[in-house]
Amino acid sequence: MALHDVSWRPSATPLDRASAAFLADAEARIDAFFEERWQEPIVGFVPSDFARLWPVLAAVREQELAPGDRFCEWGCGFAVVAGLAARLGFAAHGIEIERDLVEAARPLLAAHALDVALACGSFIPPGGERLAQIKAEMAWLVTDGPDGHALLQREPDDWDVVFAYPWPGEEHVIERLFDRYARTGALLITWRTEKGARVQKKR
Ligand SMILES: C[S@@+](CC[C@H](N)C(=O)[O-])C[C@H]1O[C@@H](n2cnc3c(N)ncnc32)[C@H](O)[C@@H]1O
Repeated sequence: MALHDVSWRPSATPLDRASAAFLADAEARIDAFFEERWQEPIVGFVPSDFARLWPVLAAVREQELAPGDRFCEWGCGFAVVAGLAARLGFAAHGIEIERDLVEAARPLLAAHALDVALACGSFIPPGGERLAQIKAEMAWLVTDGPDGHALLQREPDDWDVVFAYPWPGEEHVIERLFDRYARTGALLITWRTEKGARVQKKR
């Protein structure tokens, strides 16, 4: 694997008012979504800890850790991390397989005037399904669906920064896909339930 951990310092820049309002609204909408869907949950959707991701994204920006500003959230749910990336000046995109989540993300982003391009499709590029096979019973990952990169009129190696929140213990699936498809120099940020953020670079 050509992935290496990147050393980074959490940014000390506090969450600005507009970003804080965005997060508060996102959390309220996600709570309402769970409430509404309690009998029909989308099992793969678990939101990450957005406030704890802000200092990571801000560090990537301030410490110039990425080769450019094209950002994609793989499996974006409500696209909150992509929204924060947009607040920080990244050209933000999100790919999500569940239409109901994409439809919930759009009005949230619009309410905060956040420019995030969304695609309802899969972040697993065609041919990558084999790398994404998981034997676990409760796999969160959907391994079919239209190519989300193509829907965004992008290639999988266009991204400078990819963010994903994989199921605990299944980080290697995202790493394998990123290692195979990302461009050299691109950054992979993963959120890990117990351990927080990990930042890796493809060399
Ligand atoms: C653990 S949730 C994380 C959601 C969001 N990134 C966050 O941090 O709040 C993983 C998301 O990936 C989506 N997903 C699973 N397989 C996918 C695929 N092949 N392509 C796109 N989205 C996928 C799920 O529907 C779910 O919303």
